[in-house]
Amino acid sequence: MAERNFVIIGHRAHTEADWKLDDLCGGAGRLDVLVRCVTASLWKSHGIRRNTDVWLLLKGPPNAPITVHFSGQKIRYLNPDERSTAALIRNGLIKYKNNKKAMETSPGITMERIDLGDILERLPNPILLNENGTDDLCSAKTFILGDDKDPTDDEMKTLQNLPQACLGKESLLSSACITLIHHCLDG
Ligand SMILES: C[S@@+](CC[C@H](N)C(=O)[O-])C[C@H]1O[C@@H](n2cnc3c(N)ncnc32)[C@H](O)[C@@H]1O
Repeated sequence: MAERNFVIIGHRAHTEADWKLDDLCGGAGRLDVLVRCVTASLWKSHGIRRNTDVWLLLKGPPNAPITVHFSGQKIRYLNPDERSTAALIRNGLIKYKNNKKAMETSPGITMERIDLGDILERLPNPILLNENGTDDLCSAKTFILGDDKDPTDDEMKTLQNLPQACLGKESLLSSACITLIHHCLDG
């Protein structure tokens, strides 16, 4: 289990490779936000944060949910640019199509048909990032964020008992929140 885990809810992110790499914001359902979060979570200046995992929850059409787990310990072929990270997801979705069980689609990337509640059961000390939170961020090990939208009312039923932490009064990009969380934990 990783020391740090970032879970990002991709509300419209497509669960089939029915989009082009040139259209991450539109046809892929704001996948640009999610791949930026992968870069912010796993990349430091000259290498990978091996103590960190990322869990992207794809909740868009046609076969939601699919969770894409990036293991900082095991990941290979990850580059800092958004397009190549999106290509890893796209190729993974093509391989994973019609599979029911978890599958490692490339080294360090696993796809599985699980939802938010299942992810939370596996991960330690979760906290929700929210502009109105009042709880201590730095004792958590799992950080849950929305994409360009906050969790829905339905998702909040799963998240309602979690502590919530705020990173200031301004509403920030999810990827910027991740950089601030690393800063807090790096000390
Ligand atoms: C772009 S924001 C969502 C924007 C806005 N709340 C909305 O729904 O239109 C994406 C996510 O980043 C996190 N976030 C953004 N600003 C934050 C802050 N100041 N404190 C804590 N979390 C924040 C939240 O998890 C939020 O769901």
